[in-house]
Amino acid sequence: ASNQFCDAGIGYGESTCGFSTPSQSKILIKGGTVVNAHHLEVADVYVEDGIIVTVKPDIHVGDDVSVLDATGKFVMPGGIDPHVHLAMEFMGTESIDNFFSGQAAALAGGTTMHIDFVIPVNGSLIAGFEAYEKKSRNSCMDYGFHMAVTKWDEIVSKEMEILVQEKGINSFKFFLAYKGSFMISDELLLQGFKKCKSLGALPMVHAENGDAVDEGQKRMIELGITGPEGHALSRPPVLEGEATARAIRLASFINTPLYVVHVMSIDAMEEVAKAQKSGQRVIGEAVVSGLVLDDSWLWNPDFSIAAKFVMSPPIRASGHDKALQAALSRGVLQLVGTDHCTFNSTQKAFGIDDFRKIPNGVNGIEERMHLVWDTMVESGQISVTDYVRVTSTESARIFNIYPKKGAILAGSDADIIILNPNASFEISAKSHHSRTDTNVYEGKRVKGKVEVTIAGGRIVWQNDELKVVPGSGKYTEMPPFGYLFDGIDKADANYLSSLRAPVKRFKSTA
Ligand code: URP
Ligand code: ZN
Ligand code: ZN
Ligand code: ZN
Repeated sequence: ASNQFCDAGIGYGESTCGFSTPSQSKILIKGGTVVNAHHLEVADVYVEDGIIVTVKPDIHVGDDVSVLDATGKFVMPGGIDPHVHLAMEFMGTESIDNFFSGQAAALAGGTTMHIDFVIPVNGSLIAGFEAYEKKSRNSCMDYGFHMAVTKWDEIVSKEMEILVQEKGINSFKFFLAYKGSFMISDELLLQGFKKCKSLGALPMVHAENGDAVDEGQKRMIELGITGPEGHALSRPPVLEGEATARAIRLASFINTPLYVVHVMSIDAMEEVAKAQKSGQRVIGEAVVSGLVLDDSWLWNPDFSIAAKFVMSPPIRASGHDKALQAALSRGVLQLVGTDHCTFNSTQKAFGIDDFRKIPNGVNGIEERMHLVWDTMVESGQISVTDYVRVTSTESARIFNIYPKKGAILAGSDADIIILNPNASFEISAKSHHSRTDTNVYEGKRVKGKVEVTIAGGRIVWQNDELKVVPGSGKYTEMPPFGYLFDGIDKADANYLSSLRAPVKRFKSTA
């Protein structure tokens, strides 16, 4: 991958780059169509010191302001990717995009914030959080954290409290897959759900039955299927459907909201839809790979091509992709992430003789905004306002940082993109900004292009050039009791009063 930063390597600062900028802190975006999830209008947007100051038609400013002409273009909130793994230690290696390179790629693709998953260190959540504080020091855009829970005891329970009350974490992820590493039992899941609910934190699940996956993998190896196709064959949609249904039912039993990450199959999507229909608060997250790819790639005779598509849950057979798009357009899936977790060809080759050793993960943080636009808006499946909702606003609402993030409103953070609906380009590892050497969307032509990205009030992407500063990204604390918790206490009170009084029984004299 070429790194089209202003200057190569770490430490590219402002001075080396050549935009003509009267001011870095004052920006006026003129004449664009300003899109929010609730409303769309032609207006100007004035930004000062990282904050949106005014949104209205026909704003006039002095010479000290950088003016961007957005006539005929869409001015929208920067993307928020709710599902990312930068510098993640996983399957004996570490995902190759670190906080700087992954975020630089994100900015080049119109995403201005991501939420990463902190992995505990030896089961300790606090040690994990501290490790991620270090990893994220070179950030060039704003970010938040979810916390994974991989074991259970009194210390973990206490650490969850500390993270919510003092460290800005309001979501915890439970893995029902990855037996022998992250996988947890139903017993832990129930404890975790209870604790999350009491803290006002949202539980998230990776829903595949890990015991059955283990069985499926043994079956493939016994059959002599050791290549990347064995990955898909060993963990079919039925295992995702089972785990999704189980997590949803246990969440119902505890009466907690639930967020199902990376819904990859019709089977899982239908469980989410069914629960929502019954009134349960279940969020279904689509990821770009699930929306636009199919599993035929895993049968490619070239290992290096097939291996790059290995992720979990697997990319499914053709048909699931279209069904997931339809679910996104009718609101069964509420938002789109990426699960960006990149491994280069050398790392993927760890599994050349055994698909179980191929590090799981695909790219997408840079491509998400473009692929959702091209696949969903260009095709007429969703409106431009819905595009803003699924790529940005809904993440901000669920994780309780709206309208600081996810909106073009006076007082919101100046995280803004300008998208030209008439431009098009081709996605390629040759031009992407991720550190990985391959791209699962290689060669795909997309209509619609993010021409300008403004992050924290600074123009960081313009004229196909990145201008990013390590250390400029801020950790965004996410407070508990987001909107998904509204009214839960009333429902609990109703439940308690509905329990019939226990029967008073006489001691039998017989
Ligand atoms: O294959 C994947 N999805 N890798 C990242 C870890 C996860 O399960 O989200
Ligand atoms: Zn005027
Ligand atoms: Zn996962
Ligand atoms: Zn993930």
